[in-house]
Amino acid sequence: MKKLLSFALAALMVLVCVFSFTSCGKKGKTLDEVKKAGELIAATSPDFPPFENLEGEEVVGIEVEILKKVCEKLGVTLTLKQMDFDSVLPGVTAGKFDCGMSGITVTESRQKNMLFTDPYFVAAQAIVVKAGSAIQSKADLSGKKVSVQTGTTAEEYCSENGYTVSAFAANSDAQTALLNGNVDAWVIDNLVGIAMVETYNQGKADDEKLVILSEAMTSEPYAFAFAFGSETLVAEINKIQKAMIEDGTIAAIFAQFGEDYAAPASK
Ligand code: ARG
Repeated sequence: MKKLLSFALAALMVLVCVFSFTSCGKKGKTLDEVKKAGELIAATSPDFPPFENLEGEEVVGIEVEILKKVCEKLGVTLTLKQMDFDSVLPGVTAGKFDCGMSGITVTESRQKNMLFTDPYFVAAQAIVVKAGSAIQSKADLSGKKVSVQTGTTAEEYCSENGYTVSAFAANSDAQTALLNGNVDAWVIDNLVGIAMVETYNQGKADDEKLVILSEAMTSEPYAFAFAFGSETLVAEINKIQKAMIEDGTIAAIFAQFGEDYAAPASK
């Protein structure tokens, strides 16, 4: 009887292991699996210049160039899947895509659900207002209405800090909300805000322009996201990325898009 009981217990334990491994464990591809597949499938929200945006049908930008170079070194091709930003991270953690490429900020809460490469750049949130706005600083923004993109760190930060938040799946709609006067400010990652505002302001009279406030909020270390299970892949990409930072490849890519580059302080 005792023997039977311990056998049943052992069988149950095996079942629990198998179940937890397949259901909640490792969704990410290993380095070998990606090499064998011959491609790296990356999820991206191409509404984030200069990191990723559409030129006609084509996704272009700093992160596209970085990841293309990384894939070259891995000996695989880069395949991009386009979607709204709020689908990128859930898709990666579910193992639908191998990688997330979307100016993704590494945060402690995201790290509980996925892996990140080492950050290759540190951005910040910026406040965008209409010319002539009474809001001239972060302090002036207190209690005001802001627009953000859904699922971003801007949404998280603004919701947690007492602002009235309107969230939009597309960045351009967050910008339109400000232009229409539905919100007092638009909160967005700084380089992207600068790029989008520059494009918008072209040919506009001074009083019709958008303005970026120089006082930035938060610190946003950018990295590429992977599902748990991709540890070997992430380790290899970290090596490649480190070499690309050290030999000036990443700085050259930033320069190609008219941006200065500063590497993040090494850990
Ligand atoms: N850095 C911010 C975040 O990780 C915003 C990213 C938005 N990316 C995009 N491609 N629209 O939440």
